[in-house]
Formats: sequence, C-alpha cells, structure tokens
Amino acid sequence: MVLVKTVEELKKNLKALRKKGSLGFVPTMGALHSGHISLVNQAVRENRVVVVSIFVNPNQFNDANDLKHYPRNLDADLKLLEPTGCDIVFAPEAREIYPEPDTRKFNFGPLETAMEGKHRPGHFNGVAQVVSRLFEIVEPGKAYFGLKDFQQLAIINKLVKMLALPVEIVPCDIIREKNGLAMSSRNELLSVEERNNAAFIFETLTKAKNLAGTKNVNELENWVKENINKNPFLNVEYFEIVDFENLQPVKSWGDKGKKIGCIAVFCGKVRLIDNIVLN
Ligand code: PAF
Repeated sequence: MVLVKTVEELKKNLKALRKKGSLGFVPTMGALHSGHISLVNQAVRENRVVVVSIFVNPNQFNDANDLKHYPRNLDADLKLLEPTGCDIVFAPEAREIYPEPDTRKFNFGPLETAMEGKHRPGHFNGVAQVVSRLFEIVEPGKAYFGLKDFQQLAIINKLVKMLALPVEIVPCDIIREKNGLAMSSRNELLSVEERNNAAFIFETLTKAKNLAGTKNVNELENWVKENINKNPFLNVEYFEIVDFENLQPVKSWGDKGKKIGCIAVFCGKVRLIDNIVLN
C-alpha cells in the first residue's frame, strides 16, 4: 500500500497498476471505521486494483464549525487500511483537488430539495464537485458508496448520468455498531453516554418499520419524531418517508414503489443520519 499526496504521484503510480485490470475506488473523508473498511474490502474483492481517497472536502460543509471539528486522523486511517490489501491511499491537500476555486453549479432538481438538501444548503453541490473531480483524477471502473448517505447516493447516480461518466456506482449496506447505531465518522465526537442513547434512533426506526401500514404515513412520521424527541439526548431535525427511487414524499402506503424513511437527529451537538426501508 502506498500513500500519495499529489495528483501527479497518483497518476504515476496508477500508470503501471492499471495494466493489472479493473480499478475500484472508495472515496472517503477519513476518520475511518468498520463501515468504510467493509466498502474497501468489497472493492478489493471485486477489483484488481483499489484506490482509497481521504479528503475532507471543504466545499460540502455549509457550517464552518462542522468543518473545523470534523475528525481527522491519517495515521489511524492508514493502520486500518493496511490489512485490507488496497493499493493506493490518496490523501491530497485542497490545492490538488481545487487548483482554482470550483464554481460549477449542478442542478439535481427535486432530488436535492428535500431532507439533507433542505437542511444543508450547498452540501450536495460540494459533494458533486469533489466526486466528479476525484473520478476525473482516478478514472475508476467502479466506485463504492454507503447506503447510510442515501440521498448522496441518489445524487451521485444522477451526477454520473448527467455527465455520462464511465463508472459503475456500487451501493453498500449500512454497517451498524452492536447497539444498532449506524457507523459514522461523527460517532467519534459522541460521549459514551450519547453513543448509548443514539442507539435509540435505530431502535425507533425498526419499530416504525413494524408499524408501517397500521398508521398512515403522516402519523408514522410524527410518531417517529415524537418518540425520538422523548429521549433527552436526541433532537430530530427531520424524518421523511420518501420514494426509494425519486426521493419524493410518500403520501400513502398505496403509492407504488419501495419506500424509505430517512432521518437526521442531533445528539448533543453531533448531527447523525440514518434510514430504513419500510416495505
Ligand atoms: O460520504 C462521504 O464521505 C463524502 O461525502 C464523499 C463521498 C467522500 C465526498 O467527499
């Protein structure tokens, strides 16, 4: 495994490696956990060569404080990556990714107006900027993304279609802590007590899945919010039941297609997201 910090070094290393065959790519913002490692393991199983990027992308943070406190630990990340058998870790400085300010504006239409898009203005534009730039640099055949960031995955699929990028997007299951909390780099920022209480998010989502159909859609949305807010450590920002494909609000259980409940919750100062397929 080699660590490279510049686009030039990355391209030099990839020139020889590409000849081996398919190239898998796992973009990350570091502070790696078992969720990321499961993406990397899958990429290693399915490709001859694997690149992992570690870059905390300033353009996707709409809150300067969130960017400042985002966990960073390159040494610990490299220790976790070493045993996976990935080939290259690309950990660039911002000037490598954005030699000039990226002023591109993407329009993802209704995909970006709800949920994360509504509460984190500019976030998905920043994600699209960095992911398209990383794809341009790495030129992967397959790229791996976690289903925890469900709306991000929908945006990236759309980006790939809009720009006709020659990459297959591979969605990967949510990996959870033993207590059910979805793994996230942000979990590192939780105290032990907060981490224990944050498990109540998935506990409630699981109950909601069982209740789907017995309450109408709107009642179930309210029930989830009220139930979670009863926990003094938790404060729901949104819980929305949306169509799995187009992310539009579901009005009734009779609406056709798969439905997913997506949630954002503050646990103290830390914002956590999760989701559950409801049918
Ligand atoms: O999901 C993430 O960690 C980030 O949004 C991504 C895809 C690496 C882009 O910065």
